[in-house]
Amino acid sequence: MRPLADDGVLSALGNTPLIQLKKVIPDLHFQLFAKLESLNPGGSMKDRAAFNIIRRAIEKNLIRRDTVIIESSSGNMGIGLAQACRYYGLQFICVVDPKITQQNRRLIEVYGGQIDLVSKPDPVSGEYLVSRLRRVHELLQIHKNAFWPNQYANIDNADAHQQTIREIISVLDRAPDYLFCAVSTCGTLRGCGTYLKARAANTRLIAVDAVGSVIFGAHKGTRLIPGHGAAMRPALWYPHIADQCIAISDLECIIGCRRLASTEAVLAGGSSGAILMAVERIKSSIPNDAICVVILADRGERYLDTIYSDQWVLERFGYLPEVVRHSVLEENLCSAMENSYS
Ligand SMILES: Cc1ncc(COP(=O)(O)O)c(C=O)c1O
Repeated sequence: MRPLADDGVLSALGNTPLIQLKKVIPDLHFQLFAKLESLNPGGSMKDRAAFNIIRRAIEKNLIRRDTVIIESSSGNMGIGLAQACRYYGLQFICVVDPKITQQNRRLIEVYGGQIDLVSKPDPVSGEYLVSRLRRVHELLQIHKNAFWPNQYANIDNADAHQQTIREIISVLDRAPDYLFCAVSTCGTLRGCGTYLKARAANTRLIAVDAVGSVIFGAHKGTRLIPGHGAAMRPALWYPHIADQCIAISDLECIIGCRRLASTEAVLAGGSSGAILMAVERIKSSIPNDAICVVILADRGERYLDTIYSDQWVLERFGYLPEVVRHSVLEENLCSAMENSYS
């Protein structure tokens, strides 16, 4: 569902730019494009999911004026829902855990969202996600007129991204050969995949997960970078949802983000760094002249105190990785500039 002009700030949603990345991977033998989802009004691709879920629920009469929206999120979905709920004048309670960043908490609050903090992880699984979902169910009992977007299972989350891939195809004038999506609820991957499969497109779908995430059946482990990855397999996942899954470590994410910033001047969030490193990992298997698209989910500003803080990286990993690798193109540009100045 697309926003209408009378959806105010929410009508700025979508139609995000697709830019070509020529510098971040040296000696590229294929074309690499990035969809800058940070330019959605709430700052991430989750704005699309939040809007679609709320608008569809309003249409289905599941949300009325006095409905309280209750969701578990410590990040982008919470911010997207807070913005959409504020615009439609709906009360929003966001169930978060202590891992939420101060900045995300403030953003949700500034949009009028009420923060409900669970202080302890679930004693059996050790997971905050489990205790957050338990709290959501408690709140749904307390507020009789409540709506739970349930982003991990709601097909309206995935459907929002049929528009994302439609926009990509309309700019390229064809479906990409490769599409890289970071995964958590699997909404983005599923929505894009559904659209492509319905059109029998030959696009290879690459899911970019986090090391320590269980979505694709790996063992659970600690993860420091929020956004992609999940501590439980989401209901939106299904077997063969992706042609390939690539798990990226926290440190690789940091390297990827810093390379994007230092070569392309794109300041993006953790999952974007992961995606870049996933491209790097399989680049030798990508045919010449293929068209590859990466969906960069959110803004780097939200990670200034973590991914982009030398002190934070040193404290967590004990050293600062060497990140900048100049591409041939960059060297060519430099020598072209030197020549033009001489
Ligand atoms: C930064 C970031 N990247 C990737 C994802 C994964 O997107 P999805 O939930 O559509 O799988 C999220 C989800 O919240 C996110 O915030």
